Amino acid sequence: MRSLIDILDFTTEELDQLISVANDIIANPQKYSEKCKGKKLATLFFEPSTRTRLSFEAAMYELGGNVLGFSEANSSSAAKGESVADTAKTVSCYADIIAMRHPKEGAPYVASLNASIPVINAGDGGHNHPTQTLADLLTIYREKGGFNNLTIGFCGDLKFGRTVHSLINALARYSGIKVVLISPKELMLPGYVKTDVLEKNNISYTETTDLEEVMPQLDILYMTRVQRERFFNEEDYLRLKDSYVLTPDKLNEAKSDLSIMHPLPRVNEISVAIDDDPRACYFKQVLNGKYMRMALILKLLEV
Ligand code: NCD
Repeated sequence: MRSLIDILDFTTEELDQLISVANDIIANPQKYSEKCKGKKLATLFFEPSTRTRLSFEAAMYELGGNVLGFSEANSSSAAKGESVADTAKTVSCYADIIAMRHPKEGAPYVASLNASIPVINAGDGGHNHPTQTLADLLTIYREKGGFNNLTIGFCGDLKFGRTVHSLINALARYSGIKVVLISPKELMLPGYVKTDVLEKNNISYTETTDLEEVMPQLDILYMTRVQRERFFNEEDYLRLKDSYVLTPDKLNEAKSDLSIMHPLPRVNEISVAIDDDPRACYFKQVLNGKYMRMALILKLLEV
């Protein structure tokens, strides 16, 4: 039995296979509409979510399955002091697969050690978010046709942005990748991601605070929200929250085929004036996330 806790739990071939299943779902949705008949997905969300939870639910419904779960920690027995391990053992009695989001790094991993059904990490603290990476990979594949020889700029909160950590892990396996890290000094990419992922895989990377200076190089610009809930004090958040605001004038020097990505939710990082620019891909990511979660559920349930 497999779980998905870290994007590297899957080989490059397995990720390619998920992308091809997702593309087949897009082309032939009716072929998949009963594949998970009689199966149940439990969504255990101890942290707020719109896209991740609802796309998991939509994915399971579109496969003909059912969904149960909770969307806040306060409505579960966690509020009474139940451990993640006990919750995982309990839910294993009711469901066939779990998607769990938790504010503590490693909580979905602990759940996977105690559950008797597959567990999917739907975001653990400031650590990882592998299913957002699946959405991002399908988007890059559909926009760029592949993953080699791309220059990707990550901009914003690279310290706490878990989607950034997971996507860098996935992209580090391809060749000719260049990473440009754009953040305030206080929100730079954690050292362990630089040493264990970028340096270990000989990925060339640069760090800067200046988005406009690097804009002309980029094939992909991955914007992120400053992660308010992970700050120790509100003053720091208020000082840093508007470090980068992408407005149309900042795209003057950008490539004509730049892909602008964002895992969403957006707060103020991308002006709504950019939404109609053909280079804006963030709502495409939302839809791609549903297809990849469908492909993932099929894989983990071995349907
Ligand atoms: C992201 C997350 O939860 O990490 N959202 C998402 O799942 N698409 C990004 C964020 O919250 O900023």
